[in-house]
Amino acid sequence: MSRKFYITTPIYYVNDIPHIGHAYTTVAADILARYHRLKGHEVFFLTGTDEHGQKVEKAAAEKGRSPKEHADLLVDNFKAIWKKLNITNDAFIRTTDANHVRTVQGLLQMLWDRGEIEKRSYSGWYCTPDERFWTEKDLVSGNCPDCNRPVEQLQEENYFFLMSKYHDRLVAYIGEHPDYILPETRRNEVLGFLKNNPLGDLCISRPKQRLSWGIPLPFDDRFVTYVWFDALVNYFSATRYLAPGAEKARSGDFWWPAEHHLVGKDILTTHAVYWSIMLMALGLPLPGNIFAHGWWTIEGNKMSKSVGNVVDPHAMADRYSADAFRYFLFREVPFGLDGDFSEQALVNRINTDLANDLGNLLSRFTTMAEKYFDGTIEKPQPFGSSNFGLQCLNAFTSAHNHDIWSRCQFNGILDHIWDLVRAANNHIAQTEPWKLAKADLPRLKEVMFDLWNALRLVALSIYPFMPPTAEKIWQQLGLKSLTGETGQSITEETELPRIYNVEWIPDYAIKTAKGEQLFPRIEKDKKMTEETKPLEEKKEETNLVAIQDVAKVELRIGKVVSAERVKKSDKLLCLQVDTGGMRQIVAGIGKAYAPEDLVGRKIVVVTNLQPAKLMGVESQGMLLAATGSDGVPVILMPEKDVEEGAKIR
Ligand code: MSP
Repeated sequence: MSRKFYITTPIYYVNDIPHIGHAYTTVAADILARYHRLKGHEVFFLTGTDEHGQKVEKAAAEKGRSPKEHADLLVDNFKAIWKKLNITNDAFIRTTDANHVRTVQGLLQMLWDRGEIEKRSYSGWYCTPDERFWTEKDLVSGNCPDCNRPVEQLQEENYFFLMSKYHDRLVAYIGEHPDYILPETRRNEVLGFLKNNPLGDLCISRPKQRLSWGIPLPFDDRFVTYVWFDALVNYFSATRYLAPGAEKARSGDFWWPAEHHLVGKDILTTHAVYWSIMLMALGLPLPGNIFAHGWWTIEGNKMSKSVGNVVDPHAMADRYSADAFRYFLFREVPFGLDGDFSEQALVNRINTDLANDLGNLLSRFTTMAEKYFDGTIEKPQPFGSSNFGLQCLNAFTSAHNHDIWSRCQFNGILDHIWDLVRAANNHIAQTEPWKLAKADLPRLKEVMFDLWNALRLVALSIYPFMPPTAEKIWQQLGLKSLTGETGQSITEETELPRIYNVEWIPDYAIKTAKGEQLFPRIEKDKKMTEETKPLEEKKEETNLVAIQDVAKVELRIGKVVSAERVKKSDKLLCLQVDTGGMRQIVAGIGKAYAPEDLVGRKIVVVTNLQPAKLMGVESQGMLLAATGSDGVPVILMPEKDVEEGAKIR
């Protein structure tokens, strides 16, 4: 049984150079599309470009090109970045497509015939860059309230879409469909706005003498269509000619309505109000959900070309990999809230979550598998029969919960997946396979199988976020191809591909194959150090640090799993510490503490410190210790028992 899933991004102004904001929505849509494909659903993922309007007309004229030639050149910027970020859109719509133009005209004609559009004389204040009219009371000091630029008084005949009469119907619809607009705070904003502002009618035409680059009104070709009216229709028109098996759409509206429209918070009103009412007036079903995400600031500042802080997704993908960038965007900030981007925060995430927690887990597992069993993994017992198996099962089930996905809570999903990663790291620390190798081979076999399966569930779960990484893990686990192994076999009972069953193993022999590090640790970028230097110097003068600087230090509770002396040093101890993932810490406490006294103790660890080598041994963090009055170190330990990995704020 296949279920359909239709997901859209905004169509981006073709003039823009793709930045983090464009990447954000499109990667979100890709995550959802991949997730649903993996589950065996029939997916239509649409993105594209918005190509009409004054800005394109003007920019083209400046370059001495026709608007269409101009758009044809620029559209490749978007296509290239989607390729780089591994975006799997099924179609790319351009509002200059002849089929789209025909659909827009068809729908306009329908609305005109139904009396939903009216011709009126209109006068108002017009903002050319924003392409919109304002009323006298909207203006701020006589300027456009949006962009603060001068406006001009214009009087003209125009066509109006009679939106106002739908006010109550829209309020009722939003009220009856709690998930129609998400997140909830945005839904409340829209409802609040509608309660306080009776809707006006919408001017949907522009006289050709003022703007010629647009879709002519089918009932009066002296006018072109308002660019937003044209643009919003893309979601519907694509189902008619770009969707997989478009003939299905023709014979019974297979694809319409979309399950989700993903948009930025700034364009929620056009979607939640204009588009919803356009659909009501056309007698078409409304989409399942409009999700408005937040905006990224850049190191605390608004992103802007003039400031020169626009984040280029190409550069991020080149420097850190598309997967790491994708992971960061959805791990750092809950989808729906505003977030702050900095390259340092991205590097921290790579070093802790990706290199340390995930990458190390895989490389330790594959090393042990090869060392103890020559890479062969067999299933000696049902996975769900051990405590560890149950723990993994819980995290896996939570990461695949229907609600968490339908509400786009990507950061919560990743949290659950990292519970699995941490559980696997803990399992290694607790079962100590290196000891079992000497004493209990049957148990070792069980442990290795459980770890294998935990990693398999991790790969399956991270696939929508980091597809190539998931495939690499899958293959290092001795499996053929993650996507190849899904679609084909959906079980009757669960309607899920068999690989979602935690007891699944392939029907061929498993032989693990250790590969390259998934995410090599990133050493501090020289360039970045130089750039931030003046700031650091300034702060040192006063010896005070800002609260943001304190927040940069990540402190966690760690449990010492094992400890030994560093060879040829009476001062250094090398500790294996579980901070929610295993890490090695070298500390100068050897004169004050015996290694065996520390095992099992809880300590405080700086977990985002640059790794360093002490006497040739790598240290991935630092433990906190006070200097006692006699100069002897005293380790800080929590006053009550706290779980390892707990954050200290
Ligand atoms: N063409 C319209 C959409 C029509 S949809 C029928 C449009 N295009 S756009 O190119 O301006 O879109 C930019 C998208 O990027 C919007 O979704 C916007 O919210 C998003 N962002 C722009 N700057 C952003 C950030 N700094 N952070 C996150 N997203 C931001 O609007």
